[in-house]
Parts: sequence; C-alpha cells; structure tokens
Amino acid sequence: MSDTPQKTAAAPHSSNPAAPDPLDEAAVGAAVEQALAAIAAAASLDELKAARLAHTGEKSPLSLANREIGGLSKEFKAAAGKLLGASRGRVAKALAARSGVLEAEDAARILVEETVDVTAAPRRRRAGARHPLSTLQDRVCDIFVGMGWEIAEGPELESEWFNFDALNFKPDHPAREMQDTFFVEPPEAHLLLRTHTSPVQVRSLLERELPVYVLCPGKVFRTDELDATHTPVFHQFEGLAIDKKLSMADLRGTLEHFARQMFGDGASIRLRPNFFPFTEPSAELDIWHPGAKGGPRWIEWGGCGMVNPNVLRAAGIDPDEYSGFAFGMGIERTLMFRNEVSDMHDMIEGDIRFSEHFGMEI
Ligand code: PHE
Repeated sequence: MSDTPQKTAAAPHSSNPAAPDPLDEAAVGAAVEQALAAIAAAASLDELKAARLAHTGEKSPLSLANREIGGLSKEFKAAAGKLLGASRGRVAKALAARSGVLEAEDAARILVEETVDVTAAPRRRRAGARHPLSTLQDRVCDIFVGMGWEIAEGPELESEWFNFDALNFKPDHPAREMQDTFFVEPPEAHLLLRTHTSPVQVRSLLERELPVYVLCPGKVFRTDELDATHTPVFHQFEGLAIDKKLSMADLRGTLEHFARQMFGDGASIRLRPNFFPFTEPSAELDIWHPGAKGGPRWIEWGGCGMVNPNVLRAAGIDPDEYSGFAFGMGIERTLMFRNEVSDMHDMIEGDIRFSEHFGMEI
C-alpha cells in the first residue's frame, strides 16, 4: 500500500456531484470567484439577496463542499476545513461589504425621492366663505334684535294687494305699471315679484299682536338691467315699529343708533323731505359716513317716515290709538359704500375670491 494518504475512507468521496471537492483548491476557488462576481454584479438589495442564497445558501457549492468535509478522512479534514472556512469567509465579507454599499445607495435614493421642498408654495385649500351680503344682513338683524325687535319674513312672490294697495299706492300709481315691476302671469291672479320689503309691514301687522317691532330682510325684484349699480334681484331690509305714541323722534333716535352701530360713533343721520304712499310724512335718509372712501360725507341710504294711517287701516288698526314709523334700505347699496365695493357684478357673480376678501366673518 502506498503511504499516500487517502482522502476518504470510502469511494466515491462526494455524496453530491454538485459539490466541489473540498480539497480541490481550484474548484473551491472557482466557486468563490463565481460568488464574488455575483455579489459584485448585484445592483440592488434584492439581487444581493438572490446572490447570497445562491452562493451561501444550503444548496450553494460552498455549503455543499463544506458538508463533504465530514466524510473526509481525519488527515484531510483540517486542510479542507481551512480552505472552505477561508473561502466562505471571503464570500461573507464580500456580501457584507456589498450590502453596506447597496444600503447606503438605497438610503441616498430614498432621501432624494422623498425630499420635501419646504420652500415650495403650499397648495391652498379653498374653504369658501359666507357671502358678504349674508353677513351684512345678519349684522343688521343682530343690531335690531339687540334692541328687542323681532325678525319677520314674507314671500317673494307677493300679491299685488300687499305690495301696492295695502301700502296706499293708488290704482294708477306709476310704480305699478312702470316697467320696474315683474308681474306674474296670469294677470287676473294679481301676483308679482315683490318690488320692496314693505309688504311685510302689512303682513306683520295682520299676523302679530300689537305693539309690533319687526325688522324684515329679504330679496326684492325690479326690472332693472344689470350694471355696476343696478341688479334686477337685490336685498332690502325693512323696519317697522307700531306702538302707542310713537313719533318722528323715535324714528330719528332708532336710525341714529343703528347708523352708529353700523358705521361707528362718528356716524349720524339726516332726513330730507320725500314722498312715499305708505308713510306720511316721508323722508329720504342720509348717513354721515365717517369712514367713507375719499373722506367723510353724506350718503343717500334709504327711505323712511311715519306709517300712513291708511296702511294702519288696511291692517285693521285704529290710527287714533296707534302710530309708528317705517324705514327701508338696500343691502347691496349698504355693502357698496360700507365696504367700498364699486361694482355690483362682484356681488352677484359668485366668485369666491370676492367673498374670501371679506374673511370668514360669521
Ligand atoms: N320701500 C321703499 C323703497 O323700496 C323704502 C321705504 C321703506 C320707504 C319704508 C319708507 C318706509 O324704496
């Protein structure tokens, strides 16, 4: 027997044909080179995972070769162990190094991809705002509610009787026929779109117990063309106070208080003689607007007067026992000079930028 040491006790020495001979440096070296090449070629952590499985997993050539060591005869075990240990060590080191590189690359990529530009302009969410006509109307209501008045409403589609007859308009009064009234067909129904909030005066007197103190806001209609200062649909508020012994002084005091609430302590009012069928005497109401654009000045605000006895009679009230006053103003007009809105179009076009300009006032 030669004394050349036998590698294995039994032949074939390898139980797995895919396993390189654990003593064949060239074969083991080739497996290592393949592993290193695969690791170097891995361009992502996923690819590296696949390379790790293929070259260090249970079925990888190096693992299989390692398993062969157990079957080697004693004198070869150490050499094979050393060779495979070193080989697998090199692969493990390469894996760790490549993994570190790829992880760093991944982190850098995520950093770039998920960059938050803190200088970018924020995308604004349009939350909307209440329309300034609504908020102004509420403000007016609040002022009168604060004086103990009640809010009253009436229909926009109104009977001619409430809109005109009960308010002492004579049958031939020009306002009925002049093109500023929208009459509703058929004519014999005598219906129209109310031209002012004054019909609510009569409705309130018929519906309520005396005394009556009501503020009536609402939509009114006139056959005007839409332009910078006119619109066929607009809003008014009507005030009506009927009690015993009310006089023009009460009208003045009420309007003066109201004017100050709306325009500040520097505001005051002035009455100029005028005519309305439903008030006698009647007056045009001017407001001294301390904050007016271009300096304080008088501005025409609305109409007012002592309720005509004929209106009280139409509502079944004895004018010798009760008296009172009424006034009416346009909300659009008030908004125009109170908030310096120069074009009616802005109020009715519904552009949210207009409303937002007034803020989220409620
Ligand atoms: N109704 C009148 C108008 O629309 C205003 C007014 C109301 C005048 C009450 C006097 C009293 O012009």
